Amino acid sequence: MATIISRIKRVAGMLRERPLRRAEYDERFSMSLRQWLIMHQKEIVFDKMTWMGTKIWKNPFDIWIYQEILHEIKPDVVIEIGSAYGGSTRYLADLLDLLGNGMVVSIDIDRSKYHLEHKRVIALTGNSSDPGIISRVEEICSGKKTMIIQDGGHSKAQVLSDLENYSRFVSLNSYFIVEDGIVDLFYPEDGLGFSEQGPLAAIEEFVSRHPEFQVDESRERYLMTYNPKGFLRRISV
Ligand SMILES: C[S@@+](CC[C@H](N)C(=O)[O-])C[C@H]1O[C@@H](n2cnc3c(N)ncnc32)[C@H](O)[C@@H]1O
Repeated sequence: MATIISRIKRVAGMLRERPLRRAEYDERFSMSLRQWLIMHQKEIVFDKMTWMGTKIWKNPFDIWIYQEILHEIKPDVVIEIGSAYGGSTRYLADLLDLLGNGMVVSIDIDRSKYHLEHKRVIALTGNSSDPGIISRVEEICSGKKTMIIQDGGHSKAQVLSDLENYSRFVSLNSYFIVEDGIVDLFYPEDGLGFSEQGPLAAIEEFVSRHPEFQVDESRERYLMTYNPKGFLRRISV
């Protein structure tokens, strides 16, 4: 009898709690996609997001798409321009490990935060615009299936320069991913983004001059992306 009474009390308690729980989640679910993107950028990405213990500055929806692209393309070389702590570098290298093939070439001008050692990573330290770095990349990519992720300098001029210098290394059907075009879509009152033009402006100018690259909007299917129009597929040589 005592058991039945305590079970009834427990169920009654759960029923009382349910509307409270729903109210809490209703408030969360009333957030717009835009509010989520801003909240993630301001409160999560820089301090609270890690890959295998190393800081990674990414939108989780974007790196899921990276996993899909890597599995589809199976590149021999992934060039990552901009690695910071190396969480994204390790993420890419770990996925290549799972696929059993490929190397990540990490290019960064500042290695003060970066302490990664991984058998699938080659680290080149310097400015992505430096001709010495570009010719080293050319040697590494020669005859290899290559894709590129640009997450280095985010000014329009730097992104355009990286697109012009590195796009020739991208293999047919592979990708040049340009990160963080979202900064061009934030408003000044969001407290994010730049006063000058950024990656999205560079992409628009680049694709108008390079019909061999096409924006693949299917890679934005989760809607929550920091890379609007940033998944550039090479459709011809
Ligand atoms: C946004 S962080 C990279 C974040 C990293 N990909 C991640 O997801 O965790 C940008 C990095 O690009 C580097 N960087 C900026 N301008 C650069 C340039 N012109 N050449 C090479 N690296 C650059 C910075 O030193 C910084 O570490």
